[in-house]
Amino acid sequence: MKKRYLLITIILLLVSVFATACTKSKTNRNGYDYLVLVNKYSQLPDDWEKNVKLVNAKNAWDEDIKVEKEAYEQYKKLAKDLKSEGITIELDSVYRSVKEQQKLWDEWSADPEKGLEYVKKYVAVPGYSEHHTGLAIDICLRKGKKLVYENDDMIADKKTFSKIHKKLADYGFILRYLKGRDNVTGYAYEPWHLRYVGDKKIAKEIMDKNITFEEYLGQEKDLVNNPEAAKYQIEKKLQKEFDKKIYKDEITNSRFNVKKIYTYKDAKDDSTIKSLKLGKHDIAFDVIYQIQPKEGANIIDLTIPDGEYDEELGWIKGIHRVGVLRQNPKNGSLKLENFGTGW
Ligand code: DAL
Ligand code: ZN
Repeated sequence: MKKRYLLITIILLLVSVFATACTKSKTNRNGYDYLVLVNKYSQLPDDWEKNVKLVNAKNAWDEDIKVEKEAYEQYKKLAKDLKSEGITIELDSVYRSVKEQQKLWDEWSADPEKGLEYVKKYVAVPGYSEHHTGLAIDICLRKGKKLVYENDDMIADKKTFSKIHKKLADYGFILRYLKGRDNVTGYAYEPWHLRYVGDKKIAKEIMDKNITFEEYLGQEKDLVNNPEAAKYQIEKKLQKEFDKKIYKDEITNSRFNVKKIYTYKDAKDDSTIKSLKLGKHDIAFDVIYQIQPKEGANIIDLTIPDGEYDEELGWIKGIHRVGVLRQNPKNGSLKLENFGTGW
């Protein structure tokens, strides 16, 4: 009896190991895993950019773009299928290097109409965008002579996108940023952002269940309701570092008293942060400060970007780059460099 149980257990174990190996080999091709998770707390794997096989394509504006090879082959099939139903999709943005994402982030955050919070809903921090994988495809719609590509216009075209979404899984794609699931994905609804997962069955399961990719992988963190996870990992690390090294009400150098250097968090809550530049392994901040020249100090050569002199108070209020937080790409440790008021 006991022997029989042992045999059954061994068989079950073997079957499960075999099944896991099969799933893995299904999506682990061409030197990388098509199920790679890149999101607000999961960075692009270090060796990804050197391994990924990209091919050239043209977007709707006839610009040269790049797409992961297999994802592109499947995309073309999807586009052909949709065309037979009278829907014309075209490529918008597909592969973006970390540098290109930085440019996008900078452009969007510099737009005063958008603001940092809006940018964070739609644009990933460089190094954390699925577009770096080449597997994420932003589409737009061709309607006669008109090209529909603005976020709001695409969100409004529910009928067309519903037909598109129904076909995604047949070609190994999923809808990545679901409506009302920003607590898990970290992003607002993006009907145009398709993600190739390398396996039609997996894609079908995700689409049929209407779940996020994070949930399929068992990697979801509630970014909204869980106060701990609400702060993206990088911001949490950043805040810790800031609290440790910067939070001082007053610091002095040879020429000035510098009062009230806000922490990153305070500055953000007050919506007073002017800019935040995030690179793959570094982050630079501008913070709010107030300075008071010391008696007899030479302030002639002092340049204060956006500075305002409050005559009554005798204080200059301004914004200044104060530090660069660098992340060691090997072990993820953080180091604050160039800390100082900069003058
Ligand atoms: N729009 C998506 C979230 C990105 O920037 O990767
Ligand atoms: Zn996208």
